[in-house]
Amino acid sequence: MKLRLSPSILSADFSRLGEHVREAEQFLAKDDFLHIDVMDGVFVPSISFGFPIIESLRKHTSLTFDVHLMITEPIRYVERFAKAGADIITIHAEACEDISATLRRIKELGVKCAISINPGTEVNVLKEYINDVDMILLMTVEPGFGGQKYIDAVTDKIKAVRRMIEESGKDIMLEVDGGIYADNLSTVIEAGADVIVCGSAVFNGNVEANIKSLKEVFAKYN
Ligand code: DX5
Ligand code: ZN
Repeated sequence: MKLRLSPSILSADFSRLGEHVREAEQFLAKDDFLHIDVMDGVFVPSISFGFPIIESLRKHTSLTFDVHLMITEPIRYVERFAKAGADIITIHAEACEDISATLRRIKELGVKCAISINPGTEVNVLKEYINDVDMILLMTVEPGFGGQKYIDAVTDKIKAVRRMIEESGKDIMLEVDGGIYADNLSTVIEAGADVIVCGSAVFNGNVEANIKSLKEVFAKYN
């Protein structure tokens, strides 16, 4: 299982975003991701940013753009996110009237697609879409804000989804997002996650030291 880090720019310094991301990129592997959280103030209480930020960031890095849409009816906007530079687009099961149509639209754009569920949503919801997705994202906090505490009850869901992926025989990435730091990273990896979103744990404080301490944990498994 290939482990990837996906630093979330939500915790970066927006006044020097390009510079902050380039700083992180120096210490990342070529196939790590960059996690980009888009919030609409409706699906989640907060509003983050939209297309112009993604477009301008695209010129500063060659990292894979892992765009996490926390927006209602994302089908309305997936084309614009693809054009802005998204490589992977994640939609929320709870936010779509027609999940299959939304995933199909993303695929048609030549972009990888992923489905996400909140901590309170049953993993069974995912079964129907397992053949249609490149990645599954399990929220390990309530979506909306960086810097929250990891919800321990989600660890069993990571294990259940990893089993579901194995049973499908498909090569599907399993991403986890929220409250992950060097000290609980082993818990999510051992439960079966292989794409790890870290916001505060990367961008708060010294980026080089932060990434190195996360990568030290990765090294035990690679
Ligand atoms: C929360 C976002 C996360 C957030 C994670 O709604 O989806 O990606 O940036 O931040 P940390 O790692 O600080 O919990
Ligand atoms: Zn996210």
